[in-house]
Amino acid sequence: SIVDPLLRTGFHFQPPKNWINDPNAPMYYEGWYHFFYQYNPKGAVWGNIVWAHSVSRDLINWEAIETAIEPSIPADQYGCWSGSATTLPDGTPVIMYTGINRPDVNYQVQNVAYPRNRSDPMLREWVKPEHNPIIVPESDINATQFRDPTTAWLASDGQWRLLIGSAAGGGARGAAFVYRSRDFRQWRRVPRPLHSAATGMWECPDFYPAAPGRTVGLDASSAPGRPQVKYVLKNSLDLRRYDYYTVGTYDEKAERYVPDDPAGDEHHLRYDYGNFYASKTFYDPAKKRRVLWGWANESDTRADDVAKGWAGIQAIPRTVWLDFGGKQVIQWPIEEVEALRHQPVTLRDTVIKRGEHVEVTGIQTAQADVEVSFEVSSLLAGAEPLDPALAHDAERLCGARGADVEGGVGPFGLWVLASANLEERTAVFFRVFKAAGSDKPVVLMCTDPTKSSLNPDLYLPTFAGFVDTDLSDGKISLRSLIDRSVVESFGAGGKTCILSRVYPSLAVDKNAHLYVFNNGKADVKVTLLTAWQMKKPLMNGA
Ligand code: FRU
Repeated sequence: SIVDPLLRTGFHFQPPKNWINDPNAPMYYEGWYHFFYQYNPKGAVWGNIVWAHSVSRDLINWEAIETAIEPSIPADQYGCWSGSATTLPDGTPVIMYTGINRPDVNYQVQNVAYPRNRSDPMLREWVKPEHNPIIVPESDINATQFRDPTTAWLASDGQWRLLIGSAAGGGARGAAFVYRSRDFRQWRRVPRPLHSAATGMWECPDFYPAAPGRTVGLDASSAPGRPQVKYVLKNSLDLRRYDYYTVGTYDEKAERYVPDDPAGDEHHLRYDYGNFYASKTFYDPAKKRRVLWGWANESDTRADDVAKGWAGIQAIPRTVWLDFGGKQVIQWPIEEVEALRHQPVTLRDTVIKRGEHVEVTGIQTAQADVEVSFEVSSLLAGAEPLDPALAHDAERLCGARGADVEGGVGPFGLWVLASANLEERTAVFFRVFKAAGSDKPVVLMCTDPTKSSLNPDLYLPTFAGFVDTDLSDGKISLRSLIDRSVVESFGAGGKTCILSRVYPSLAVDKNAHLYVFNNGKADVKVTLLTAWQMKKPLMNGA
């Protein structure tokens, strides 16, 4: 297939070329945001992993600086894998990361690195002390499933804690092991893991406090022991390749985390119901918020990646907080991205009838930010019945009831990256169901990329999640950030999010169109739609 250079993203984080994966050690230091990531300096496929490093004043404009961490000691000579940063009480940032120390198997140990010069706000040089590795797997741990240390936090007893992603039960269970230290040098494992579940290995754990209903973030070391504070535990499931989380309580004394929902680990709450993995949050003291980074892989072919010379992007950083009930995480693109918006166009009080669509014109929409509020009526009367066999499987439900299958209330939403004659289009939409014996509507949000490209070699999964709303006022909102080969969507103010990679062959550059559509029987009103074209920020010199 032919790879169009106009599919390269513009305002999503990317180096000029080559493979990238996990976000590593995001932090704020002396007026600068620091971002590190898993990077292959030699090509567009995974391998030769080092920590590339970029700095920014606003999380949007990025400058690439020297590689921060690369193989140089016995404890990391075959790879410098994922890890996190912790700010010590005197303000020194420390990086803890996984090193691969054997050539034949991926044998994993944990190392630390310190800035050579704390007065350099760019933190250009990182030093690995002689005492590395500082954590090695004990004999009961599978050394090939022991990685990705979290940011450490100070517990009420004044000692550090951190988590390492691992497995138990011969690999059948995912586990997050707690390590404890007084000096950040000698670490001892707590025998029982903080938490574990029958999911297969946990990569890239993340664990942080949050106060329900408050958008202000909490620093991990300020929260232990505080009432009203809940914790989020996120794990990246190696077997499923998605990031799952639960909300619960942290019992410091017992060194345990307990999800509020006893079946939480099976209920599969996800940050993102699309392509979003190995994510990690950090506390931003400058704006007192918690910010989430996540990696979005390509879904074209490996041959396309080699031809493009690049693979992988980071999602737009998201501010994360807990809803009022403390049931789920809410996510919203960091406010700084709005500085890229220009040339707004609007659509107001426009009714879209059964089978109709309306084009949004006046701007180029291959790179756009779109916010839309919908109003629906005759909710329950019009909604289609929910097949009980699919009631718990949003993805299969969306596969069966895709964007072009007529419904009662919905499918309605956006066609993005659409070609002029609609041969190509990616649908981002809602669909309302009524469950048997219930008077509460069930709202599904989907991204359907099955018509996104005429290129036949693509992986085009439909992505879907339920939205926790009863639509009591008949209103629901949708925001989509469109950036050539990525569509990142936020339903109902950030309750349900879906990132999808698409590779149009016609709907590129000036040939990309944007529509609002309604394939349901019931009318849908667009009360307000605003779409902006997006400017290109500084992006690592590319
Ligand atoms: C997750 C992951 C991590 C590991 C890193 C290696 O994508 O597999 O567990 O540290 O990538 O690049």
